Amino acid sequence: MRKSLSWIIILLMFLLINTIWDGKKEEAVTVMNRTEDSLLSPNRMLNIAHRGASGHAPEHTMKAYQLAMEIGVDYLEIDLQMTKDGRLVSMHDPDVSRTTDGSGLVSEYTLAELQKLDAGAWYNQNNPDKANKDFVGLKVPTLDEIFEHFGKKANYYIEIKQPSQSPGMISSLLKTLKKYDLLDPNNREGSVIIQSFSEESLQQIHQRAPSIPLIQLKGEAITKKQLEKIKEYASGVGVNAKLVDRKFASMVRDAELLLHVYTVNEKEQMVQLLEWGATGLFTNYPDRLKEVLKEIH
Ligand code: G3P
Ligand code: CA
Repeated sequence: MRKSLSWIIILLMFLLINTIWDGKKEEAVTVMNRTEDSLLSPNRMLNIAHRGASGHAPEHTMKAYQLAMEIGVDYLEIDLQMTKDGRLVSMHDPDVSRTTDGSGLVSEYTLAELQKLDAGAWYNQNNPDKANKDFVGLKVPTLDEIFEHFGKKANYYIEIKQPSQSPGMISSLLKTLKKYDLLDPNNREGSVIIQSFSEESLQQIHQRAPSIPLIQLKGEAITKKQLEKIKEYASGVGVNAKLVDRKFASMVRDAELLLHVYTVNEKEQMVQLLEWGATGLFTNYPDRLKEVLKEIH
């Protein structure tokens, strides 16, 4: 008798702890009932400059971001990597060889070493028709430099890359956002979005900074059930264009999630995705998307 009473007490305690824990779960930033002036509105198409205006200037350089701002985009997309000495820099690949004149992993360079590399000359070699002498000698920018330069004039769509190989990246990102006052609740809602393929990283951010809208990136098909799970911590999904058709777009929209699609560079595809209900496009040619949106409205 005494034994079963003990079990009942243990069970009740377990249920109590579970209820308290559930009560502490943060809701995801919802996107419903947003008017079209909100960056999170499900009724607008966001122009996201993928790695800056990277169709016209070397990706993830200040030139590519500056050009995107001149075009008038909704967001600058920034991929994050971390240096050996723990500095956040903007670069897509974990290896520097494609987009600089160096070789090896970003994580093997100190910031000082990394910034000795040329991050622009490769673009001129690969794109002789778009070559520009001003691109030669461009540096890999730090996240600090980007925030310092554009401040609150820009909206930032930041991707956490290789989080498992860069311990401290999330803490450092949140610290840097705070340093530049980019998490102030008085700022425009959605002025910073964080995206990742890593659910674990997004869950961590959701617990630590629940007011930041999050986007779960996916490179493979997503089920309705998965969307329900994503909705617990994220405001939307960022999906490879190959996976999107009318049916998929409706499924995401019905789940009351934003649908951002990467990487869309052709006008025809932009029009189609807009018609299917996408709410944002990552593009290397934000000027083209701007023209499409102007033609449609
Ligand atoms: O962040 C959306 C898209 O950029 C993901 O692909 O490889 O270009 O970072 P990737
Ligand atoms: Ca990215």
